[in-house]
Amino acid sequence: PETGSLTVVVLGASGDLAKKKTFPALFHLYRQGFLPPDEVHIFGYARTKISDNELRNRLRGYLVSEKGASPQQLEDVEKFLQLIKYVSGSYDSEDGFRQLDKEISAHEYLKNSVEGLSRRLFYLALPPSVYPSVCRMIKTCCMNKSDLGGWTRVVVEKPFGRDLQSAEELSTEIGKLFEEPQIYRIDHYLGKELVQNLLVLRFANRFFLPLWNRDNIDNVQIVFREDFGTEGRGGYFDQYGIIRDIMQNHLLQVLCLVAMEKPVSLKPEHIRDEKVKVLESVLPIRDDEVILGQYEGYKDDPTVPDNSNTPTFATVILRIHNERWEGVPFILKAGKALNSRKAEIRVQFKDVPGDIFKCQTQGRNEFVIRLQPSEAIYMKLTVKQPGLEMSAVQSELDLSYGQRYQGVIIPEAYERLILDTIRGDQQHFVRRDELKASWKIFTPLLHRIDDGEFNPILYKPGSRGPAEADELLKQAGYVQTHGYIWIPPTL
Ligand code: BG6
Repeated sequence: PETGSLTVVVLGASGDLAKKKTFPALFHLYRQGFLPPDEVHIFGYARTKISDNELRNRLRGYLVSEKGASPQQLEDVEKFLQLIKYVSGSYDSEDGFRQLDKEISAHEYLKNSVEGLSRRLFYLALPPSVYPSVCRMIKTCCMNKSDLGGWTRVVVEKPFGRDLQSAEELSTEIGKLFEEPQIYRIDHYLGKELVQNLLVLRFANRFFLPLWNRDNIDNVQIVFREDFGTEGRGGYFDQYGIIRDIMQNHLLQVLCLVAMEKPVSLKPEHIRDEKVKVLESVLPIRDDEVILGQYEGYKDDPTVPDNSNTPTFATVILRIHNERWEGVPFILKAGKALNSRKAEIRVQFKDVPGDIFKCQTQGRNEFVIRLQPSEAIYMKLTVKQPGLEMSAVQSELDLSYGQRYQGVIIPEAYERLILDTIRGDQQHFVRRDELKASWKIFTPLLHRIDDGEFNPILYKPGSRGPAEADELLKQAGYVQTHGYIWIPPTL
């Protein structure tokens, strides 16, 4: 592993994302020994003029809950906070960035007095509108010192643009300043344990190889549900809507991993090549395969315009035009303010031909990957009802992580992805051509929604979403098993 000075700069240090995700992820990495204190220096950068200690005070409460923390944890928090310094400055003028460079260099030359590297990671926890200027400033003022060697990497968050054109413009701007291996486009769903497991499940198990195709699979659902609304984020959310917030990125990335062919190897480029092929095989979305919804009360948020037609719910069917998937609907569903919070992939198999048990009323085989909460992989199957009678009943083979991997802590998505950027592994990051292909899929629909040509149906908060969405699911071939429900095992 590389050694020598490592600097992590969090730009937008006092924003929501930085406080809730970036700094806590860095803290977890620190606690596990991935950020050795003699090598690492962390900087917060933002416009507000505050002191190092003020930033530390703002972050403290996000790193550990006061109540449940052990004295050791509290001590770690304090040690970690001491690694953080703050520099204030604007996002489009050189002064602040020159100051930042000075401080980083001082620490690099000190640490590297014998030998070592200048490794600089810039995490843009910022709105994309400032990406180009911030990247320009980094390029002009803050690149790693060539006499020390090392690297400069930039992590950017979604939304990367609003549609195909704006995303491409953004990519072109950033592409003029940094090479693709320096740009880490983060999609935190790619850092989730069960999303990462897809590759292993699919390609390391003989079970799935012959079944994973149009001959056996009837339909695939990729579902994201939240049981709360846009609380406090209405202003941001209204500019984007559920398709740009969840579907075009998180769910589509999951779709790629479910549908792609086996990559030549685990090399990042091989994996991403396969993902791009899937995206490029997606057919144009049909109007009659889209249901949009907006929860009642969404517009009560003072930051949301009264006439907003922004969807907070969407069901969209994607069809992949290739040999493996022709005719199999991939049903993407995402919604806020619904009756439950969960994310899962449901692969539903076709009916058994020539059934002698009259099982069709019982339900189909289904392979479910529960991404969160209660991470699990389970397979719904039909078995004999235990007892004297010869009757069939739905049951499951269940790999529930909480039970099977007791005591194992599943890392947070951000934690893992930040570690990947430090290690220079782009496997779980979105490549430029992938981004382009994913915007291409949704842009025509998004433009029609923006132009007011496609309007959401109102639904009650706390419900399943518009009834029309369930109807569409049925039309697409999904068969719900009534009377069966999988219950995550309690420990
Ligand atoms: C973010 C979206 O990318 O993902 C949020 O902007 C959403 O609207 C969040 O709540 C969900 O992430 P997770 O990891 O809680 O499923």
